[in-house]
Amino acid sequence: MYEVKNYMIALQSHWGINQPTFKAAKDSIPEIIEYASNGAKTKMPPTSLRKMAKRIFPDVFSFPLLRRQYCKMLMEEINHMKKEINFTVNEEENLERQIPEIVLAEHCPDLYSHFDIVVKTIINPMIICLWQRNSADIASIQIANYNLQEKDQGAFHHDVDADVSVVVPLNTGDYKGGGTEFHNHGKIKPIPTGHALVFPSFNQFHRGLPIVGEGDRYLLVFWLYDRSRIEKLFHGS
Ligand SMILES: [Fe+2]
Repeated sequence: MYEVKNYMIALQSHWGINQPTFKAAKDSIPEIIEYASNGAKTKMPPTSLRKMAKRIFPDVFSFPLLRRQYCKMLMEEINHMKKEINFTVNEEENLERQIPEIVLAEHCPDLYSHFDIVVKTIINPMIICLWQRNSADIASIQIANYNLQEKDQGAFHHDVDADVSVVVPLNTGDYKGGGTEFHNHGKIKPIPTGHALVFPSFNQFHRGLPIVGEGDRYLLVFWLYDRSRIEKLFHGS
């Protein structure tokens, strides 16, 4: 179990959130609640939170999520973390899809709790604005060391544990190459540090692109889903 050294990054506060996005989320939540309480029968009004998202491909969006200063502190923390915990691969995944990662629920509950609040107050409201669906439950939050130098190239995959995937680069510019390819859509260059790439996990077959030369690419990855929908599916009610 890893205890964070810099308590600022695990503070139950929104200081590390991109401020225009934070303000837009705060302003939009009453509109989202009103829309839901009216039975979500009409087209959702264009909330200020929705306006923060940029459409990259059909159903692939990006929006500013974390402040650069927060990402910088998180990267410093990751350097401490690496001395105590190894980035390990998930042996259950296919070899060509294994990425060294630190799973926060298991190794760093302080950060997990912090990001749980970010999911509930910022990311899920954005998902509702984009797709009118809840995905507030966490299948996993990981810090991935996605440099792909050894594997040449990641394989196309769906993030099978999730309804919605959110990928936040933490150190864009510290490496060359990288980015993501979406099957049938094309390639995108690495988005800026702290911006979130968000897409439905079921229909977006994707892969990470290799970095060129030296360097390490770090990503914060959220796999989100709607537990109540799964419960209904398997247990009725
Ligand atoms: Fe993925």
